[in-house]
Amino acid sequence: MNSFLSILKETADLPGKKNIRLHELEYLWETAKQFEINRIIESGTYYGLTAIRLNKLYPECSVYTFEIRKERWRKIPKEHLGKNIYFKHGELINSINLVTSDSLVVIDGPKRERAINLARKCAKIVPIVGIHDMLEYEYLLKKTFVDYRMCGVLAVVTLKKDVIFPC
Ligand SMILES: C[S@@+](CC[C@H](N)C(=O)[O-])C[C@H]1O[C@@H](n2cnc3c(N)ncnc32)[C@H](O)[C@@H]1O
Repeated sequence: MNSFLSILKETADLPGKKNIRLHELEYLWETAKQFEINRIIESGTYYGLTAIRLNKLYPECSVYTFEIRKERWRKIPKEHLGKNIYFKHGELINSINLVTSDSLVVIDGPKRERAINLARKCAKIVPIVGIHDMLEYEYLLKKTFVDYRMCGVLAVVTLKKDVIFPC
């Protein structure tokens, strides 16, 4: 069983709502394999499901997950939290110094243009950024990034020319 299938098995029954689907996360993870990833940054914690999955996929990395509505953390199944997950109250845009060149950035709140602006700032530092719920915003992705791919409603975007996207 590969590690992605074990993540699927371990987290299949956890609560979640409007979170990144497993096939979307798998695409991001596959794309990220060409880079050395040492830190995970997520914007939009809510149920913590993506943070928990990322923590399982990258057990050696710290996961920093930002949420503007702190009360939402009540929904996180604490028994599934591994070490290395750091909850941050507020917006990632105000803590951009946490984003290092070896980070994997995932944005699932804010949405729309604000998500694209945040992704653009991060993509100046990191090779790829995942942005959720981007299906209706492909025209903006085309204008803003050097390249991007959609997997479901997740866009994986880059400002670099040499990123290889799996088909
Ligand atoms: C679709 S949910 C995220 C799902 C989550 N990743 C999960 O696995 O359950 C979006 C979350 O982003 C939060 N949010 C919206 N705008 C935000 C911002 N600018 N910074 C941080 N969090 C934000 C919302 O409060 C909401 O909880």
